Amino acid sequence: MNLAGKIAIVTGGAYGIGFATAERLAREGAHVVIGDIKGHEAAADRLTAAGLRVTATMLDVRSDDRVAAVVAETVAAFGTVDILVNNAAIWTEMVPGPFEQGNAADWLRLYDVNVIGVFRMCRAVSAIMRAQKSGRIINLASGTAFKGSPGMLHYVASKGAIISMTRSLATEFGADNVLVNAVSPGFTMTESVEAADHLRSAFGAAALVTRALKREAVATDIANVIYFLASPDSGFVTGQIIAADGGSVFH
Ligand SMILES: NC(=O)c1ccc[n+]([C@@H]2O[C@H](COP(=O)([O-])OP(=O)(O)OC[C@H]3O[C@@H](n4cnc5c(N)ncnc54)[C@H](O)[C@@H]3O)[C@@H](O)[C@H]2O)c1
Repeated sequence: MNLAGKIAIVTGGAYGIGFATAERLAREGAHVVIGDIKGHEAAADRLTAAGLRVTATMLDVRSDDRVAAVVAETVAAFGTVDILVNNAAIWTEMVPGPFEQGNAADWLRLYDVNVIGVFRMCRAVSAIMRAQKSGRIINLASGTAFKGSPGMLHYVASKGAIISMTRSLATEFGADNVLVNAVSPGFTMTESVEAADHLRSAFGAAALVTRALKREAVATDIANVIYFLASPDSGFVTGQIIAADGGSVFH
């Protein structure tokens, strides 16, 4: 119970890596707010039924107002925000395609969630974390940003932005003991990936070939590292991008 008494918000926490993260943080004693555009009530019900302290809220990270309201509601109900996991992203609905067929509308739609959504969330918690002189922000990057993957330039670029934002925010917030890190998953078999034939056929086999560890990744593989970055054991770690990918990217 290393996170007893801590208050966490997990964006996109209803499914996949976000859900596994919510469960892991809650099992360590945190009260977790699952914020998502769908599935949040059912996700929270599942974890509450398991005896964990979890609440659900409708959160669209594209909305300045809703982001501010979710943070304000969390502080009103539970006193503060100690941990923010920026997990929400547009990802599995993206169909890899020829570069020339890309369009600016898709870029803007994806950036609104994957990049500006993270900015909105960080801005909403910064005053709280800075004032209490402690906080953990954990972002979801991706191995694609290190390797470069074909056919999804907007997604890859958005995760590159997350890496840069993580490093810059670590320097902005460090003096106030707010630690900012990212986890960089490899291709991970979440429910949405299982359902996305277009992604599994494009990246599934290739991901396994590049790994030192010859098995598929599951959501808990990533959630465990996110937990580490939220825990007291990582108290002198900031600005880092930890690859949780079975030994595919080395840096
Ligand atoms: N699964 C992988 O192979 C993999 C690999 C590298 C990085 N990642 C990253 O890990 C994270 C989670 O991946 P996943 O496979 O669990 O994805 P997922 O699609 O299963 O989950 C994403 C969650 O974000 C939510 N979401 C989408 N738009 C939102 C919005 N506007 N506001 C709030 N919530 C929103 C979705 O409802 C969903 O619950 C993402 O950031 C993804 O880019 C995943």
